[in-house]
Amino acid sequence: MQVVVSAPAEVSERWRDGLAQAAPELDFVLWPEVADGDAEAIEAAVVWNAPPELYARCRHLKCICVLGAGTDQLFAPGIELPEVPIVRIVDPVMALRMASYVLAAILHFQRDFHDYVRQQRERVWRKHRSRDSHRVRVGVMGLGAMGRASAKLLVTNGYDVAGWSRSPRRLPGVEGFAGEDGWPPFLARCDYLACLLPLTAETRGLLGVETFARLPEGAVVINAGRGAHLVEADLLAALDAGRLRGAVLDVFETEPLPPEHPFWDHPRILLTPHVASITNLETGVVQIAAALRTVRDGGVPVNLVDRARGY
Ligand SMILES: NC(=O)c1ccc[n+]([C@@H]2O[C@H](COP(=O)([O-])OP(=O)(O)OC[C@H]3O[C@@H](n4cnc5c(N)ncnc54)[C@H](OP(=O)(O)O)[C@@H]3O)[C@@H](O)[C@H]2O)c1
Repeated sequence: MQVVVSAPAEVSERWRDGLAQAAPELDFVLWPEVADGDAEAIEAAVVWNAPPELYARCRHLKCICVLGAGTDQLFAPGIELPEVPIVRIVDPVMALRMASYVLAAILHFQRDFHDYVRQQRERVWRKHRSRDSHRVRVGVMGLGAMGRASAKLLVTNGYDVAGWSRSPRRLPGVEGFAGEDGWPPFLARCDYLACLLPLTAETRGLLGVETFARLPEGAVVINAGRGAHLVEADLLAALDAGRLRGAVLDVFETEPLPPEHPFWDHPRILLTPHVASITNLETGVVQIAAALRTVRDGGVPVNLVDRARGY
């Protein structure tokens, strides 16, 4: 089976080589080094932000494997996807990476590191009283692979944790909320709100003025889902008005974040360059190789994306 690999230039060869090692019986070719005639023979695509031409030219795909957990990139305007199974990566290593990011983001504001970094620069010796974890109410938006691991780590660390999902989910030690009815009571108990949702038509722009108004005064917002979950102007307004105490952001509407963007200098924003949970190559190639073999043998792979739901 011929498989095309289209990934960002700096990692594409590593993925191609890793996949070739994990599945030496399959034939991996890098996009765009695919001649026109050869594109017809390609039966699977392994992609991260692949250009629309790939789907237009490789017309006999039987499967698309995404090199990550989020698949919103496939449903972007201009992309015409074939009606084939879409496989994403569901990896406990990645989930734990995300969980540690969320914990670190909470601690940054909870333990006042945000102020201490500034105080150190100014040589100021001033103590802040921080709230103990059992008194800190955290809400996790999305209880999928990322959200569940994060909620679990937060429970283990003694936080008062709630989760919000589309359908009701039960997790030990986590107060569950679901759907539209669960949204207002969930927000009302979030001193820290961590967005780990997939980006869909329903979740786009969810972190906006109406959501911030429902949070307790002085809440902290963490966004490690996708940039388009957040209405950037609403966040700036809420921070500047003191409605929110701070924000930790890993994902942005435009990435890389443009140098002139107001987030860079904002005293109440900690930002990271989309690193909360980078796909793990070692485990990723094993999962993708297994999915490709299943498709080659006529089976149905695991970790499929539901097109109707959009995640
Ligand atoms: N920053 C990073 O480095 C990074 C890395 C990996 C992933 N991510 C982001 O994290 C997202 C989540 O990944 P995952 O693997 O945890 O996804 P997942 O396993 O598909 O879980 C998605 C969760 O979101 C919930 N959800 C979806 N739409 C909803 C809605 N309209 N209202 C309420 N809840 C909704 C789902 O509810 P149900 O349980 O009811 O289905 C599910 O609990 C990815 O899509 C990606 O955008 C970011």
